[in-house]
Amino acid sequence: MSAPIYEFAKTYSQSGISRFHMPGHKGRHFHGMEALDLTEIRGADYLFEASGVIAESEAQTAKLFGAQKTLYSTEGSSLCIKTMLAIADRCRADHSKRMLVIAPRNVHKAFINACILLDIEVCWVYPAVRSRSLCSSGVTADDIARAMEKCTRKADAVYITSPDYLGFIADIREISKVCKGAGVPLIVDDAHGAYLKFLENDTHPMTLGADLCCDSAHKTLPCYTGGAFLHISKDAPAGYAECAKLMMSLFASTSPSYLIMESLDLCSDYLLNGYSSDLAVCVKRTALCKKRLNDMGWKTVGEEKCKLTVAAGECGISGDELGDKLRSYSIEPEYTDPDFVVLMTTPFNSEEDYTKLEHALSEIPVSGGRAAEFDEIPSAVVRMPIRQAALSPARTVPVDEAEGCICGMTVTSCQPSVPIAVSGEEMTADIIKILKRYGVFSVSVL
Ligand SMILES: Cc1ncc(COP(=O)(O)O)c(C=O)c1O
Repeated sequence: MSAPIYEFAKTYSQSGISRFHMPGHKGRHFHGMEALDLTEIRGADYLFEASGVIAESEAQTAKLFGAQKTLYSTEGSSLCIKTMLAIADRCRADHSKRMLVIAPRNVHKAFINACILLDIEVCWVYPAVRSRSLCSSGVTADDIARAMEKCTRKADAVYITSPDYLGFIADIREISKVCKGAGVPLIVDDAHGAYLKFLENDTHPMTLGADLCCDSAHKTLPCYTGGAFLHISKDAPAGYAECAKLMMSLFASTSPSYLIMESLDLCSDYLLNGYSSDLAVCVKRTALCKKRLNDMGWKTVGEEKCKLTVAAGECGISGDELGDKLRSYSIEPEYTDPDFVVLMTTPFNSEEDYTKLEHALSEIPVSGGRAAEFDEIPSAVVRMPIRQAALSPARTVPVDEAEGCICGMTVTSCQPSVPIAVSGEEMTADIIKILKRYGVFSVSVL
């Protein structure tokens, strides 16, 4: 038999490794439904023209999240992000200029892809409070209000990524007030926060005033990888709900995975019946684990209740090195970089997972380390529109030869795909320093 992908997955699934990473089901038996892998046959409905079972399931999920409408995505939040921006683009009043979006820099690469495809102009926000990492922004409502004042014209949307990869959460309620006051729609990338709706204190973006938001259900809920929700708020601008499916179909496959849709469907049923109490137990156990790690001297950061983000660099060890040590204890983190290790928990983590983690971290020495070393992304020097630069012929050069050139295809950190240099921006010495820090040694330039 030669099926290397399957063989890897099978070996991994039998290894006994504790999964502190996505997907939320943690590899435990929950659905078990190979025979149910269908296509759009009669009775199975059509994802982009849903009027039967898919429409029914989506409506049930919309009700759960308090949304006017919810769309299922079988291609993750990546598809939802492009769709949300296309909806806002199509429904804006004045089409005489390119769409203008205000966004902090910690966007996922899907946002940049949408800018390329839809020819969006971005007004980047550089928050007053210095961020800790490439994938975190610390953006506040004041930062957004200031950005609105600074913009040369009224923005067509504000776009926020929250929670971010490290587990920091933006104040969506306050940001939403600023947006509503200015008549600008608010779009939230809530890829990491589907579960926020089901906490004792519901802090989901749909509850706090976002017009559009996406949840990567697969990241924190028991769904197959690729399953995501796109929610449209009851207060969203006119036309959003009506054109949403059409906009999603522009970017999506015509063969949506039924297994993923079924897992979203079953997940929705679980969200309605039992998930909240399981989540409450998980939140409590994660808090206890965090306390135990803190008592050992490990510094943790972030506000999310289902993320354990260890500020490894500040504890005398690089995040990447700590990740390798955890692997030797048969623990796989979600993410590591020079400064941090991110571990994600869900109700599908077992007590053994937590005790294994606590044991490993009790044996790994902690010391007073250095302060976080991240160099803030400097303000962009925009030399060309994102779309024009991304679609122009480009060549690849070593980063040391790129200074002064225009960035061709956007360069992101390998994971979690947050841009360091965006298409059309000048490659400055400061940007080149950050690229090297994240292990990027060649770039595309015009
Ligand atoms: C903040 C953020 N947004 C969007 C995405 C894309 O989500 P998906 O993998 O569901 O397409 C990711 C993926 O890691 C992410 O971290």
